[in-house]
Amino acid sequence: MQALKGKVAVVTGAGSGIGRAMALRFAKEGANLVLADIEDTALTESLALVRDEGVDAVDVVTDVAQFEAVEALAERTLEAFGTCHVLCNNAGVGGGGSIAKAHLVDWQWVLGVNLWGVIHGITAFLPILEANGEDGHIVNTASVAGLVAGPGIGPYNASKFAVVGISETLFHELGASGSKVGVSVLCPGYVSTNIATSQRNRPSHLQRGERAPGDARSRNADIAANVATGMDPAQVADLVVRAIYGNKFWVITHPELLTAVRRRNDALSDLRNPEQPTFG
Ligand SMILES: NC(=O)c1ccc[n+]([C@@H]2O[C@H](COP(=O)([O-])OP(=O)(O)OC[C@H]3O[C@@H](n4cnc5c(N)ncnc54)[C@H](O)[C@@H]3O)[C@@H](O)[C@H]2O)c1
Repeated sequence: MQALKGKVAVVTGAGSGIGRAMALRFAKEGANLVLADIEDTALTESLALVRDEGVDAVDVVTDVAQFEAVEALAERTLEAFGTCHVLCNNAGVGGGGSIAKAHLVDWQWVLGVNLWGVIHGITAFLPILEANGEDGHIVNTASVAGLVAGPGIGPYNASKFAVVGISETLFHELGASGSKVGVSVLCPGYVSTNIATSQRNRPSHLQRGERAPGDARSRNADIAANVATGMDPAQVADLVVRAIYGNKFWVITHPELLTAVRRRNDALSDLRNPEQPTFG
């Protein structure tokens, strides 16, 4: 895709962090925007920021874990702009704790947003991107946790490995069919966002019903400290725009973390048991 000017971009999780930064960066490039998030107030703030850049934009409160909501988002996109060129399946939640102590609702919540949100986005929007006959692009937000599996974040790792797998499959399939829609997978390391307070968006029917165990709370405190000193989301958004323009699949924010990925892949090639990854 050569330019975003005058194109239509949909960003989920646009109320905060990486999603807000991508929306703002796309607006600076002249794209019109559809902003989606489960958080109403944060979404309204993002809408105002984007409109300040002089582009047309609408916001749609959306729970990406619900297919009907994502279908409604697609309908609203068509109503507002008639088509869509860029889809960023970015909404996501994090949460720590060992697999042994995880409840089914922990898996259901994290996979519902991080994995099913991406599936819902692709299902509802890919036909729209393909139908306009113009260049398009899908950016799925995974994580370094989709490339190496460290302990203490089982559901999150599962969701992000799946998003990498889906993105790679889609890349091959769209390439083979001669589609004009490109695919990128965003695999950030720590980025300074609100992800450490993801529980704020956990629906009542997927609550644990009891306080999270100590290991989960201490893992979450570690994550919060690393996120607080993480990369500026605006830098991540720059990398995403470059990937869209350059049709690059991998968007890696912290290339130094690829050492851990190489170690994992080397152990796999040699059929050695996995080493615990170190991020540094
Ligand atoms: N921040 C990091 O260090 C980091 C690292 C790797 C990957 N990521 C990924 O980046 C993406 C964006 O997260 P972030 O770091 O900007 O966090 P964030 O909390 O700042 O933003 C995430 C947004 O998603 C929204 N959201 C949550 N549940 C939703 C739902 N069911 N439907 C729609 N929207 C929902 C939240 O309201 C929020 O606005 C996520 O997929 C996350 O897993 C973040």
